[in-house]
Amino acid sequence: MFFTKRLGIDLGTSRLRIAVPGRGGRIVIDEPTVVTLSNQEHAVLAAGSDAASMLGRAPDSVSVISPMREGVIDDYLIVEALLRYYMSLVTGRFNLVRPEVMIATPAGVTNVEQRAVRDAAEQAGSRRPAHLIANPLAAAIGAGVPMGDPRGALIGNLGAGRSEAAVLSMYGVVVWESARVGGQVVTEAIAEHVKRRHNLLIGEPTAEELKFASASAVPVEDPVRSEVRGRDQSSGMPRSVTITANELVPSIQQVLQTFIEVTRSTLERTPPELTADIIDRGMMLTGGAARLQGIDVYLAEQIGIPVTIADNAEDAVALGAAEALDNLDVVGPNLLAQEGALSGNEAR
Ligand SMILES: Nc1ncnc2c1ncn2[C@@H]1O[C@H](COP(=O)(O)OP(=O)(O)OP(=O)(O)O)[C@@H](O)[C@H]1O
Ligand SMILES: [Mg+2]
Repeated sequence: MFFTKRLGIDLGTSRLRIAVPGRGGRIVIDEPTVVTLSNQEHAVLAAGSDAASMLGRAPDSVSVISPMREGVIDDYLIVEALLRYYMSLVTGRFNLVRPEVMIATPAGVTNVEQRAVRDAAEQAGSRRPAHLIANPLAAAIGAGVPMGDPRGALIGNLGAGRSEAAVLSMYGVVVWESARVGGQVVTEAIAEHVKRRHNLLIGEPTAEELKFASASAVPVEDPVRSEVRGRDQSSGMPRSVTITANELVPSIQQVLQTFIEVTRSTLERTPPELTADIIDRGMMLTGGAARLQGIDVYLAEQIGIPVTIADNAEDAVALGAAEALDNLDVVGPNLLAQEGALSGNEAR
């Protein structure tokens, strides 16, 4: 496949992305962070999209496991196995030269959580030490936000299991805040709405499909109508209903409140000179959940500054982590140190 020695890794709650640096970088792996295990031998049966297709459909003999939760490692051995598998796909299985890796983690991870990520990468075959970079810094670099001058930049990174807001300047994180709320909670809120309003139980994949097809953070003029199939809550029998995009808006806005609070409190703690820059430049959104229709409009209205969605929103963290490896002279001092140098807050 691609034989390379430098990898930027975004080990996300829902997706694992690996990028290589150079000329803006390139994504070489983009797969669900999921494996299937046989319950008898505990052997890995499938990883990535092959494993994800069994979600909600696996027989009792098979477990479908998502080893990341809310942005941090939940099942260490599975993460290590996933990293080993996908890193060797990229570097070549018999490559004797260990790759140099930069792994992105949430800004607020504890020292123990950092240690786990570093160990997993090293056990999986990376060169020592595996470097760690905070998600918002990687996201800013990957999204092409100029970082070299002392101007403030506000980044929002919205993932599946976590949302982060951070103010950056000169390749450093100045203030940050994070919450364990992301696209997964949006999906749950949609399923909950369908249950309450239509008395219909739907699975997570169906709710996720509905989110992609029609969810919006603000009401739209010509709302999409989607037919969803599920199980009637009273009779237990299969039934389908038609959902109109706009009926989902209040539930979605309610989930977004947490991120709005996170952003507001980040701004409240930002030094005034940097705040002035941010009012000019606005907020840059990255992460897959930034693809939610209308989210830029809604956040701009709620926070009162312009909001831009990065062109490469879902890939920015992995691309930025890879690029950071090519710029260790400037980025190096701002990487996550063993003892966790960043100070900030975790809201929830
Ligand atoms: N077009 C879209 N509309 C709405 N949501 C979307 C869209 N595309 C992706 N998402 C959501 O984005 C989330 C995934 O984003 P991303 O890949 O950045 O997360 P992650 O890095 O795996 O998670 P985290 O950063 O929280 O660990 C999922 O919840 C997914 O449903
Ligand atoms: Mg992420």
